[in-house]
Amino acid sequence: MTKVDLNFVEGLTLEERADLVSGTDFWFTAKVSGMDPMLMTDGPSGLRKQVNVHSAMDQSIEAVCFPCSALTASSFDDQMLEKLGEQLGTAARAEKIGVLLGPGVNIKRSPLAGRNFEYFSEDPLLAGRMGTAYVKGVQSTGVGVSVKHFATNNREDQRFTNSSDVDERTLREIYLAQFERIVKQAHPATIMCSYNKLNGVQVSQNQRLLTNILRDEWGYQGLVMSDWGAVVDHTAAIKAGLDLEMPGKGDASKEEIIQAVKEGRLQESTLNRSALRVLEMAERYGHPKTPAPAYDMETQHEFARQLADDSIVLLKNENQELPLSDSAKLAVIGELAQKPRFEGGGSSHVNAHRVVTPKKAMPAHAVYAQGYRLDSDQADEQLTKAAMELAKNSDQVVFFAGFPEAMESEGFDKHSISLPANQNKLLEQLLTVNPHVVVVLQNGSAVEMPWEPKTPAIVETYLAGEAVGEATWDILSGQVNPSGKLSETFPKRLADNPTYPTFGKDRRHEVYREGILMGYRYYDAKQLAVRFPFGHGLSYTTFAYQNLTISENSDDVTVSFDLENTGSQAGKEVAQVYVANHASQTIMPIDELRDFVKVELQPGETKHLTLKLSRRAFAWYNSETETWEADNGQYEILVGSSSRDIRLRQEFELTIGTNPLGKITGETYVGELMENADERIKQIIAEMGLTATFDKFMSPELAPIFANIPLRSLTMADIDAETVHELLQKLNELD
Ligand code: BGC
Repeated sequence: MTKVDLNFVEGLTLEERADLVSGTDFWFTAKVSGMDPMLMTDGPSGLRKQVNVHSAMDQSIEAVCFPCSALTASSFDDQMLEKLGEQLGTAARAEKIGVLLGPGVNIKRSPLAGRNFEYFSEDPLLAGRMGTAYVKGVQSTGVGVSVKHFATNNREDQRFTNSSDVDERTLREIYLAQFERIVKQAHPATIMCSYNKLNGVQVSQNQRLLTNILRDEWGYQGLVMSDWGAVVDHTAAIKAGLDLEMPGKGDASKEEIIQAVKEGRLQESTLNRSALRVLEMAERYGHPKTPAPAYDMETQHEFARQLADDSIVLLKNENQELPLSDSAKLAVIGELAQKPRFEGGGSSHVNAHRVVTPKKAMPAHAVYAQGYRLDSDQADEQLTKAAMELAKNSDQVVFFAGFPEAMESEGFDKHSISLPANQNKLLEQLLTVNPHVVVVLQNGSAVEMPWEPKTPAIVETYLAGEAVGEATWDILSGQVNPSGKLSETFPKRLADNPTYPTFGKDRRHEVYREGILMGYRYYDAKQLAVRFPFGHGLSYTTFAYQNLTISENSDDVTVSFDLENTGSQAGKEVAQVYVANHASQTIMPIDELRDFVKVELQPGETKHLTLKLSRRAFAWYNSETETWEADNGQYEILVGSSSRDIRLRQEFELTIGTNPLGKITGETYVGELMENADERIKQIIAEMGLTATFDKFMSPELAPIFANIPLRSLTMADIDAETVHELLQKLNELD
């Protein structure tokens, strides 16, 4: 067996090394003497292994189609995501796939973004936790992953050329934090760089992102590959830290690199470094040391059903409309029951093993009517009439609604988040003849629901994978108690979203003007009513939260509370811990999700839960000092069932962080200094005989003016220049 190391690489010809840093074709790495090529395949919700390299995008081998990431994130269930990874890895091993191209972990910035179905959340902690679990699961089987799309690929229109213009703090806190967590905790085999530019620099040749942040700061050891066709200048890309161009451009790719080396534009050592990473990947994941685990598609189909069961979100359930009554005359209306949307379009499209439609899985006594056509948004008179007739003569109606495939896919963004007009219209009509309409949604991201106030029950199934029918009825019938929570906010109107005025408006620049105040961080700061908040999801049982205690240890903060199932059936709850920062002297969201746990409880059972928040849970990214800063001072811990259903809250004082003043300079204000003065500061002031003077400045009469004077201008307040200088010098020396 070849030993892959730098010596081995240096023993290869320049041609061979140049060959290695581009794919041989769409899916394979190059073959060089002593090392066979390695196969990679999409991801992320099932295998899309093309029948052969030249076959069309949708001609792939049969594989189990698991729920899309928008749904799996709604599980808030790390263990299930790890199991999903194991299932995918097992399937990949059976198909001799070395690297699975997923998960996609970009943040859902706008509900219009075409690929939201493939991404986890608007919140980086949730996206990071789900991604970490998924990656650990896949890689535990000996298959590598490619975490994509690094980074800020938050829109599809002009995705190859558009520049995501993001300020540094927003970049770090919102758009990179999930990648950082995954890299540090799950050590993904590869990272896939995105198509777009970041602040004007093509990501595939962005040294700051691909090397300085990813490798130097986060310590990433794996390989960086390009998204398919993302490389503009291959030499510049390799220099910046890209290792593998995908797919290759044939001989042209090789020639380009050979020329660059010969002309001295690319150092051989840089080429060797990337060639070595390709070989290491091919060796480790292309030639696994352990035997492939047992693989059975029916077992995987059953898991796809359980994962959907664990993730589907019960958005509304007035007067216990659900679970459906066994004895009720039941109407099932909507073409989506017969032709469900269960997966997204584009590279994640799977040739599903066995799709069970909601119509196929519906109870024997239910009666179906098509109601509307998916290929048009015009109402169909005959279909409407038949549906209305059926609704009139039924006790309950289950109405299947959603975005048709043509409206939502990789490759383009949406222009609206309304359901097609014919679906909205029919639903309004049905509600006039039967108030017991349960709406089941199939869509990739947030939907406007003008009819929500009139609708007693709404179930969000997103794109639920091939077991869509079984899982939907598991929830509707009550065979499974729902436990999913929204991983994104559903606004009342698209126009309420903070990116509404800017998203997709400029062909060349996508300007992230809303900064860190996006998703629930924005809606909460604005105190804006939303349709359904982040973290929301109901159960058929009820939960009570009690006895919150908070204690600070030398490295972290421990949050404990009791969670009780107060209803009459077993159920799972996602307890969410948010932090409200009142300490930092900068823009802070009202609250941020900092931890969560999913717990199963029998009726009457109570569990005592303990969660630990590290310093990072209290930190913000200070782009001036280029550090994560956790400021000492007042915080509040909020524990709840959703971001807007907080059951317990308690203030506490953080002392394990840093001083919120940061470095004290002449530009520090008197008010800031005195409000945050610790013993050391007070002592300096006392030693200089200035205590009475500062007390006077902060007296109720003078504080409104004096608190707003910077230290350097205290000469205006009868302190001589020398004393001001000495005071500043002493304060400055504090770390
Ligand atoms: C997508 C990637 C995908 C690749 C290979 C690209 O267009 O952006 O997510 O992995 O194609 O199919």
